[in-house]
Amino acid sequence: MQRIYLDHNATTPVAPAVIERMMAALRDDFGNPSSVHHFGQRAKASLDEARSQVAALIGADPSEVVFTSGGTESDNYAIRGAAEALEPTGRRHLIASGIEHEAVLNTLRALARRGWRVTLLAVDQSGVVTPDSLRAALTDDTALVSVMHANNEIGTLQPVAELAALARERGALFHTDAVQSAGKVPVQVKSLGVDLLSLSAHKFYGPKGAGAIWIRRGVRLLPLVTGGKHERSRRAGTENVAGALGLGVAADLARAKMTTEAERLAALRDRLEHGILQRVSGTAVNGSGARVPNTTNVSFDRVEAESLLIALDLEGVAVSTGSACSSGTLEPSHVLKAMGFPAHRTQNSIRFSLGAANTEAEIDHVVSVLPRLVEKLRSLTRTPVRA
Ligand SMILES: Cc1ncc(COP(=O)(O)O)c(C=O)c1O
Repeated sequence: MQRIYLDHNATTPVAPAVIERMMAALRDDFGNPSSVHHFGQRAKASLDEARSQVAALIGADPSEVVFTSGGTESDNYAIRGAAEALEPTGRRHLIASGIEHEAVLNTLRALARRGWRVTLLAVDQSGVVTPDSLRAALTDDTALVSVMHANNEIGTLQPVAELAALARERGALFHTDAVQSAGKVPVQVKSLGVDLLSLSAHKFYGPKGAGAIWIRRGVRLLPLVTGGKHERSRRAGTENVAGALGLGVAADLARAKMTTEAERLAALRDRLEHGILQRVSGTAVNGSGARVPNTTNVSFDRVEAESLLIALDLEGVAVSTGSACSSGTLEPSHVLKAMGFPAHRTQNSIRFSLGAANTEAEIDHVVSVLPRLVEKLRSLTRTPVRA
């Protein structure tokens, strides 16, 4: 069976050049980067090269890049590290958007249980945080604002530069989770004007379990992982050298191909979107305005998203839903809920996220099988047609 992978926002296949570099690293760069002898210094030199590659992707200074175990750790470090560092100043308020990844939302929930005040900003129906909502939420005791650069479910790009400027005016730090934008669209820390930025290798053809946090020079975080003086005492533990090197190569590849690949993916994504809207009745795209080029999220009226995901999988097409099935009930997508969509629309949406290997022929195949699958699922439900 022909298998078509349209779930690149979940993870991407590892690029061949990344695999090669990681294999060589495992074989040849096995020294501990903290060791003073030849083997250690060789690993350290490789690590420094990877740090420069990551820094080049985001327009940063290499000394500001700290390797982590991925996006989740970077988000935790940014939020917990800033909150704990600022606690003595009396700033006990944290702000984030309601459409953040769980890595941010659950970290904020944990801090709320320890007495932090947390404000979650609403988004409009296009899936964007408005500067006005942040302006209204900021107070003199706001320690940190965290708003993602691109949303993982619907792909919308947030007005981070504008939001970060508002936070700065009130003396609050600004963190952006750029896990879904880094490597797909230009991410430049200086023009974004942020203080902290998270990224993850496996979202742009690097390995899982490798990521980085960018910490603007002068910003002090309390370390999340304590121990030795690795990463200039910002993240303890012997570095995952092969993972970091894989991240570095992935960053280089993404930078080299960004413009052409973004154009190619946007054209494929638009072809998919138009095809679905034309060929399948009762469909609508969730999220509008500026989006990452590889993502679309589509509602299928009177269809349970999980059922359509399984039907597509049986046809060899891999997609995902923002809603999750837990203990037999379908949990609505928190992103679509935050956008104010009615309950049925938060449970009937499918995310298609495209990537390097996808072709026009694959997109046309998906568009051609969808009408039949949707029709079949609809014939099995007795829910009345909604306007
Ligand atoms: C927006 C966003 N943030 C954070 C993460 C977590 O990254 P990781 O899987 O590297 O922990 C993801 C992964 O799905 C994501 O999409």
